[in-house]
Amino acid sequence: MPLLRHLLTATALLGASAQAATGVTGSAFGFASGTTGGGDATPAAPSDITELTTWLSDSTPRVILIDKEFNFLDSEGKCTDCECCKPSSNTCGSSGQNAVKQNGSDWCGSYPSLTCTYDNAAIEGLEVASNKSIVGVGSAGVIRGKGLRMVNGVSNIIVQNIHITQLNPEFIWGGDAITLDGTNNIWIDHVKINLIGRQMFVAGYEASHSVTISNSEFDGQTSWSATCNGHHYWTVLGYGHNDKVTFANNYLHHTSGRSPKLEFNSYWHAYNNYWFNNTGHAFDVGENTRALIEGNVMVDVNTPLLADSNPGAVFAVNSSDVSTCTKALGRTCVANTLISSGTLTGSNSSVISSWPSGESDITVKAASQVAAYVKANAGIGKLSNGSGSSSTVAAVATSAVAKRAGPERDAPYVPAFSEAGPGASAVPSQASWSWRKVSTDGPAPTGASGPQGLGAPVQGSAPQATGHGHHHGHHGHGN
Ligand SMILES: *[C@@H]1O[C@H](CO)[C@@H](O)[C@H](O)[C@H]1NC(C)=O
Ligand SMILES: *[C@@H]1O[C@H](CO)[C@@H](O)[C@H](O)[C@H]1NC(C)=O
Ligand SMILES: *[C@@H]1O[C@H](CO)[C@@H](O)[C@H](O)[C@H]1NC(C)=O
Ligand SMILES: *[C@@H]1O[C@H](CO)[C@@H](O)[C@H](O)[C@H]1NC(C)=O
Ligand SMILES: *[C@@H]1O[C@H](CO)[C@@H](O)[C@H](O)[C@H]1NC(C)=O
Ligand SMILES: *[C@@H]1O[C@H](CO)[C@@H](O)[C@H](O)[C@H]1NC(C)=O
Repeated sequence: MPLLRHLLTATALLGASAQAATGVTGSAFGFASGTTGGGDATPAAPSDITELTTWLSDSTPRVILIDKEFNFLDSEGKCTDCECCKPSSNTCGSSGQNAVKQNGSDWCGSYPSLTCTYDNAAIEGLEVASNKSIVGVGSAGVIRGKGLRMVNGVSNIIVQNIHITQLNPEFIWGGDAITLDGTNNIWIDHVKINLIGRQMFVAGYEASHSVTISNSEFDGQTSWSATCNGHHYWTVLGYGHNDKVTFANNYLHHTSGRSPKLEFNSYWHAYNNYWFNNTGHAFDVGENTRALIEGNVMVDVNTPLLADSNPGAVFAVNSSDVSTCTKALGRTCVANTLISSGTLTGSNSSVISSWPSGESDITVKAASQVAAYVKANAGIGKLSNGSGSSSTVAAVATSAVAKRAGPERDAPYVPAFSEAGPGASAVPSQASWSWRKVSTDGPAPTGASGPQGLGAPVQGSAPQATGHGHHHGHHGHGN
């Protein structure tokens, strides 16, 4: 039937052009400026998880449309009656998190062993090769049961408008949603992440270089909480070396720690983010990391900045030091606003005087606009609300527009941490680590001294005037 064939062809073309129009929205800004992902490759939607897996990892530049849910649950089978342990942080049984006993790791130490069943697919993320855009369509793009893993030197990747969920949320070490380990030019935008076993985002230990994480939602609501209160502890972990991370317009809510935890010689610029209801700590800035924290809003955050035992350098802007930035950054900084929260102070101005270049295209809004803006724009299904690119963000009178930054000054690489298990304090040879092993071993910082030091959550649920949490003098908490 020629007429019918005609109609079918017309319909197919319509579908194709609708998809072709659905590439990346906006463009990368901040440190990941210039990231183009799959560029102008014709957008296409994989048909199933096998094709998605292939397209993500092959060497062809691609714009991969996530136009439905890709469900990896059970795709690699289940580990049944496998080894787990019950860490001391789990004081609430089935509402807490037990831990998967990872191969080759003694994270579980002397914690009581038990058997557990978990989904194998979540343990390690999908490999993503260079020059890819992974873009959700509308609010349909879900990757269930497996994360994304960008490692071993990949670069130029955009992940936009997808939802990553259900990675063995019952179990510490059940899976990480987004892993960077040895990358450059990565833009994570409008992503929603919830119900993850371990980290929602992790970078390290290899350098991840230039990264922007924007307009994303880190939703910590869970029925399996390492802090036994329905909040997720393992949120954002920046352990890279010499990374430059722009962290902007994100929504972090119902978490109880590590939002974010940063360490090892990186620069993190956190601006215009909205934190809501964090029963533990937001920032933990450790060893040689520089954090510039401005124009953010925190509401009901118990400990905005944890007192790290080996602190990095923090410049957290308040109303009295907005002009301190003028000389160093060529613009005023923007004060943070804290409501029903602990204190956030950090006045190390060497952070701004040594701030690297690469963010000349950013606009920092006044904190008064942040909560409404972030709630309307962060997460999946909100691209049409127009925050894909800084250029679409209306500048306002009180905004501070970046003009220039000082010369780039990277501090020397200092691999000075030990991965201590109970009774072990040797610094392993870094060359022998794959990320997988690092991930499974559970990075414990310098001085980890016993099971509590192996990454048990910092127990800090009671509001503390000092913003300090119950730190108990154990070094190496919080991993
Ligand atoms: C441990 O190794 C076995 C065999 O390679 C594998 O089936 C299992 O999934 C691994 N477990 C974890 C938690 O990585
Ligand atoms: C990514 O694309 C760039 C620019 O076209 C090209 O030079 C580079 O080789 C590509 N990388 C890979 C791993 O294909
Ligand atoms: C914050 O979280 C706590 C613990 O889950 C909960 O009891 C409380 O109602 C939340 N507060 C708000 C304002 O949502
Ligand atoms: C400020 O940070 C720098 C690193 O940027 C560090 O060397 C210095 O000790 C810090 N100053 C204070 C007072 O902590
Ligand atoms: C601003 O921060 C500085 C240094 O951290 C502190 O001394 C000062 O009291 C703060 N001012 C206000 C208004 O919070
Ligand atoms: C987009 O913004 C409008 C206006 O701020 C808001 O009402 C709407 O909920 C937003 N859309 C989404 C999907 O959040």
